[in-house]
Amino acid sequence: PEAITVAELANRMAERVADVVKSLMQSGIMATQNQTIDADTAELIIEEFGHRVTRVSDADVEDVIKVAEDAPEDLQGRPPVITIMGHVDHGKTSLLDAIRNANVTSGEAGGITQHIGAYQVTTDSGAVLSFLDTPGHAAFTSMRSRGAQVTDIVVLVVAADDAVMPQTVEAISHAKAAGVPMIVAINKCDKPDANPTKVRTDLLQHEIVVEEMSGDVQDVEVSAKTGKGLDELLEAIALQAEILELKANPNRAALGAVIEAQLDVGRGPVATVLVQNGTLRQGDIFVVGEQYGKVRALINDKGERVQEAGPSVPVEVLGLNGTPEAGDVLNVTETEAQAREIAEYRAQVSKDKRAAAGAATTLEQLMQKA
Ligand code: GTP
Ligand code: MG
Repeated sequence: PEAITVAELANRMAERVADVVKSLMQSGIMATQNQTIDADTAELIIEEFGHRVTRVSDADVEDVIKVAEDAPEDLQGRPPVITIMGHVDHGKTSLLDAIRNANVTSGEAGGITQHIGAYQVTTDSGAVLSFLDTPGHAAFTSMRSRGAQVTDIVVLVVAADDAVMPQTVEAISHAKAAGVPMIVAINKCDKPDANPTKVRTDLLQHEIVVEEMSGDVQDVEVSAKTGKGLDELLEAIALQAEILELKANPNRAALGAVIEAQLDVGRGPVATVLVQNGTLRQGDIFVVGEQYGKVRALINDKGERVQEAGPSVPVEVLGLNGTPEAGDVLNVTETEAQAREIAEYRAQVSKDKRAAAGAATTLEQLMQKA
């Protein structure tokens, strides 16, 4: 892979580094001056500045372009991130509770998951798996769609006494849109009226052909209540993860995604962040969406303070100046000035956008009145 640092690119174009960073951000790319961008992105930016791209020869590119992304030798295996999806009340949280030997369901208001829970589980065979539990309520569709972007594998939970329902279909389309492999967990198989075959035939209508029907989507009959099939489900996940050969570089500045965030009365803004690459450490300075901060504390899924969180690890991050949005990207930066500048710039851009949208509405209203 070929790349160039932002500073070097600015230097070559004789443009201000800040202007190049801003232009990148307008294209949705977060890069500070010392970070590298790939050749194609560089080309786009060069054109945007009205310069001509002069890639005289491959050798010339080699000269300009430095090492990109993570070198293959820096990559190490990382745990898979598995998102549990499915229709409301089909047993997503119960299933995860059973896997974790925990009991989250009973503590939930009305038994309905209101937020995304993020947990790590170590299987009997020693495999580490990161799970995200998504709310089944229709109001959380957008959150769930964001959930699908940080995930490597979707476990689609379908209750055997209810079969495929609207949010099952929604989950299928999210998984398909994200291009994420799916494993079907046919839950509540302990129930007398359980009909796993109906689940499988229903799924056919949505182009999901499970292994039991000679397709290639793994399906497992489970019961969160009795524990039936849970080991088999974990095996299916581990197998799928192995095929994906998931890798990350733990020895670089962290990059993560906000799973959820809220303003906590005692602790201030708190974000649950899934680290996607690198290692996030206490004391790190970061920008996340329109907010920035310095990691004051990291808290793992068991409520324990930790010093660092590597790839695929979900952690609560304290030390934010404001509350970010679910789905925001977290980047560690070198200086606080940098983090603040980027956050403020983004805030300004979205403020301008809102103002523009506001103006459009007003114009529309005026037209209607006329
Ligand atoms: P939302 O978060 O609201 O979308 O629901 P959920 O999918 O997380 O379902 P939850 O785990 O809260 O379970 C819903 C109900 O089904 C609860 O009353 C569970 O006790 C029950 N349940 C879940 N799994 C099983 C199972 O395998 N067998 C039986 N009999 N009941 C189950
Ligand atoms: Mg739930």
